[in-house]
Amino acid sequence: MSVSENIAYQKCINPDCQAEFDCGEAIFKCPKCGELLDARYNFDKIEVPKKLSDFGNRWATRNNRLDFSGVWRFRELLNFCDDKYKVSIGEGQTILEQNTAIAKYLEMKSDSLFLQYEGLNPSGSFKDNGMTAAFSHAMMVGAKSCACASTGNTSASMALYAHACELKSTVFIGSGRIAFGKLSQAMDYGSQTIQILGDFDDCMHQVQAVCNKLGLYLVNSLNPFRLEGQKTIMYRIIEQLGWELPDWVVVPGGNLGNSSAFGKAFAELKELGLIDRIPRIAIINASGADTLCDLVNNKKLVWNDGRVDQKIIDDYYADLTARNFSPHTCASAIEISRPVNLKKCLRTIDLCNGVVRKVSDEEICDAKAIIGKYGLGCEPASAATIAGLKNLLAENVIGKDERVACVLTGHVLKDPNVTVNYHKEEQGPFSNPPIEAPNDLDAIIKLITQ
Ligand code: F0G
Repeated sequence: MSVSENIAYQKCINPDCQAEFDCGEAIFKCPKCGELLDARYNFDKIEVPKKLSDFGNRWATRNNRLDFSGVWRFRELLNFCDDKYKVSIGEGQTILEQNTAIAKYLEMKSDSLFLQYEGLNPSGSFKDNGMTAAFSHAMMVGAKSCACASTGNTSASMALYAHACELKSTVFIGSGRIAFGKLSQAMDYGSQTIQILGDFDDCMHQVQAVCNKLGLYLVNSLNPFRLEGQKTIMYRIIEQLGWELPDWVVVPGGNLGNSSAFGKAFAELKELGLIDRIPRIAIINASGADTLCDLVNNKKLVWNDGRVDQKIIDDYYADLTARNFSPHTCASAIEISRPVNLKKCLRTIDLCNGVVRKVSDEEICDAKAIIGKYGLGCEPASAATIAGLKNLLAENVIGKDERVACVLTGHVLKDPNVTVNYHKEEQGPFSNPPIEAPNDLDAIIKLITQ
């Protein structure tokens, strides 16, 4: 029986290769051509619920750990391993907040804006959606130790799941490139933490070489099973909209795992007849790390049915190298200039009629303050969504009455330095600095009542 007759298998995204592999292999990139791999399913061999709302029945059986998980609740849609391997620490208990105050600030129709707060995950970011899936696969293939490169959240999440699975874990981070909340998690959860004198892209390069040489299990989003878990963010948005679709999904773009996963989620739901249209997507880069934006909008890079013009990418990266370019943004989570999922992201843009924009650090910090003031708060990278949405509304790309879901990828406490500096140093119009007061009751009362 060929691998593609299995319930699930892995397939190279390169149309000129299309090599297929068993899910029992931990390979992460096509050994034949070096391209990215997809998890693929033969859905006719899986008992997928007839309509999306059927997944909602699992709320009644939440004492089952897989039904409790906001990822595995949708397990038929990521059916690559047996239940006995599935690892869960209660990920995906997130909420979609309808935010009328920010809608008003953006001059949108008051009921149009929704914020998907992924900061509520166990390690405080969306990464747990992917990590629960990657570690389930790691258990299935009998991995003993794992590794990742990270701008912070991947390492925090990996460290947490690794200790839950009793695996040794090693993280590679760019020295000085990680927010303290995230670094503290990696250390506290017991990961071996290696700081490389370089940026994320250098770490990503090294970790792949190390994993190949030492046979470590790689949990970066190159790993196709990570992306399978991240698809569920879209399912939960649809669920919380009463099993209806948003018109737009807005997401920050870094290594481009999320955008890649979201497109795949919609493609599969459409294939299964569970949705009848595909929402549009807006991917927002930081100006200091705008590879995707530049390649798509200026260099006209497109998916082209999988035959992506590699020369455009090679020339672009050669130029970055020649200029000794290293990305810089206060949104350190997305400080990435060679995104590993670039091609899968192009596929999403193609499928979802997507747009890509970039926003400045100033716009990110102002948007973050607005999300804090009127919502549940978030880390800087997540705020790129509201900053990008503001610009897309001004451009009339997104209409004021369209239903928009912004994915707030990380918790407000991940990067306190950016927050404190913005407020204390009065960096923007929404700064709310603390007030110095003498240790004197009258003076304090005067301050409060004036
Ligand atoms: N938002 C946050 C909070 C992130 O941590 C990341 C990525 C992104 C957005 C970008 O997501 O890569 O799917 O486009 N953080 C990775 C890390 C790179 O190492 O923690 P993406």
